[in-house]
Amino acid sequence: MNNITTIPQHVAIVMDGNGRWAKKRFLPRSAGHAAGQNAVEKIIKASIERGIGILTLFAFSSENWRRPTEEIHALMNLFMKGLTEHVPALHEKNIRIRFIGHIAGLSLSLQQKIAASEALTLNNTGLQFVLAMNYGGQLDIVHATQRLALAVRDGALDIDAITPERFNSHLYTTDLAPPDLFIRTSGELRLSNFLLWQLAYSELYFTEVLWPDFNGKQLDLALSAYATRKRRYGSV
Ligand code: IPE
Ligand code: IPE
Ligand code: MG
Repeated sequence: MNNITTIPQHVAIVMDGNGRWAKKRFLPRSAGHAAGQNAVEKIIKASIERGIGILTLFAFSSENWRRPTEEIHALMNLFMKGLTEHVPALHEKNIRIRFIGHIAGLSLSLQQKIAASEALTLNNTGLQFVLAMNYGGQLDIVHATQRLALAVRDGALDIDAITPERFNSHLYTTDLAPPDLFIRTSGELRLSNFLLWQLAYSELYFTEVLWPDFNGKQLDLALSAYATRKRRYGSV
């Protein structure tokens, strides 16, 4: 199966390196996260211009709670502020915003903001902008398993009916096509518990560039690399 088009339909990014970006400038880590948010705006715009259909960004992992309290607070405040300030403009651009992860584990005010953002943009038909918040790939799989187990226990589902397709539909990503292209910035060569199931056949791209420095030009380098890949899906 070769690409019909060389532009990936779904791009998923681990936005990493905010802390190191700040450290290089003798700034607090929170300044790196603020700079990272500017990069998000740029990449949304660039993704639309390139014809990408789904953009998924890893904003906060289920393991990021291990960080110092003040950094977590700074991040949560930034999410709140970012959604408040930017969602109306995203809505005007016909962007649909979706969230994946254990949303119920976030503050009530953030949960309300998330629900309102999703509801406002629900019928938009442009870019699907997916934010992974309090997301962990293992948690995603366990959560899906629990829901399937409940259905089996209640007699509503036959064990043999648990296929990869049905399992997939119970993940946080439900109906979203899996990522074609995975990008991680800042030189780290690992998944860090992002979209473990969904990345099964994604093309992987790593760059040394720190997330706050990632821009349209950097995205184009990743897209060029992607365009040279031969996706085989186990075939020849
Ligand atoms: C990514 O940047 C942002 C989040 C994980 C929220 P980091 O904060 O991980 O930056 P580094 O890896 O310390 O440079
Ligand atoms: C992954 O980055 C999480 C996000 C980008 C939100 P981390 O910086 O938390 O990952 P590790 O700790 O280096 O594996
Ligand atoms: Mg990091």
